[in-house]
Amino acid sequence: MTVATATRQAKAVASHISKWYGDLEVLHDINLEIYQHEFLCLLGPSGCGKTTLLRILDGLIQPDEGTVSLDGEVIQGPPRQAAMVFQQFGLFPWKTVSQNVAFPMVLARVPQASIAEKVRWAVELVGLKGFEDAFPDNLSGGMRQRVGIARALAVGPEMLLMDEPFASVDAYTRELLQGELLSIWERFRQTVVFVTHSIDEAITLADRIVVLKAKPGEIYHVFDVPIERPRTVESVRKHPAYEPLRQTIWDDMLAGSGRAV
Ligand SMILES: Nc1ncnc2c1ncn2[C@@H]1O[C@H](COP(=O)(O)OP(=O)(O)OP(=O)(O)O)[C@@H](O)[C@H]1O
Ligand SMILES: [Mg+2]
Repeated sequence: MTVATATRQAKAVASHISKWYGDLEVLHDINLEIYQHEFLCLLGPSGCGKTTLLRILDGLIQPDEGTVSLDGEVIQGPPRQAAMVFQQFGLFPWKTVSQNVAFPMVLARVPQASIAEKVRWAVELVGLKGFEDAFPDNLSGGMRQRVGIARALAVGPEMLLMDEPFASVDAYTRELLQGELLSIWERFRQTVVFVTHSIDEAITLADRIVVLKAKPGEIYHVFDVPIERPRTVESVRKHPAYEPLRQTIWDDMLAGSGRAV
């Protein structure tokens, strides 16, 4: 397989995005094309505006300046083509796994029979078959995040927006989930924007890595990840491009943070 098979056609375009909270400029003049079928990681220090940018891309909050377009149309609110996965899972504790996965489709008034079929498919895809009637409190952190991913995948989104989805699970589960996400994504190739603090995670998953710097949040540099697909967590770690890229990005983030390199 070739490296970065993404066709370089824009799925989403953020253009001249700026966002202020009171006197604090959180994002400054962000310009970013997210290509169709690419896996893009946003990497940056805490507080640099990653979550804010992801929510702007999902139409959940409005920028003070600039626009987001999806398939060439400026978005005015959450677009139906996109689905979000949150760090803290965002599950309803009083709903079962199936009910949680079904919820966005119930809201969207998808016919009941179709919901049932999509829930079954998504729950199986993320390895939760047999847990359909369990409640979130009875699941491990990794399983809860699988529910969050199933809920996003069930609607058949063209774009997935993922905000540090693996940050709340232990290191072993995190690698397991990275591997599962790799194999799911390599089958379906939705356009993904994935926020992370972890350079390793970004290299493992991404076609391109956008490094942000803080105060205000700005795009610092963009890196291509020259590692073939299909990938596994192990194959990425053993790849000759892995260590040099990791070092380059590490140095870049340090330089972006203003500390001595
Ligand atoms: N609703 C809000 N009101 C005021 N300030 C906010 C609000 N949301 C975020 N901020 C501030 O904006 C900045 C960027 O926040 P954001 O959550 O986007 O950063 P982040 O890069 O996602 O951080 P982390 O890595 O910790 O998740 C921070 O300084 C934060 O305190
Ligand atoms: Mg955040």
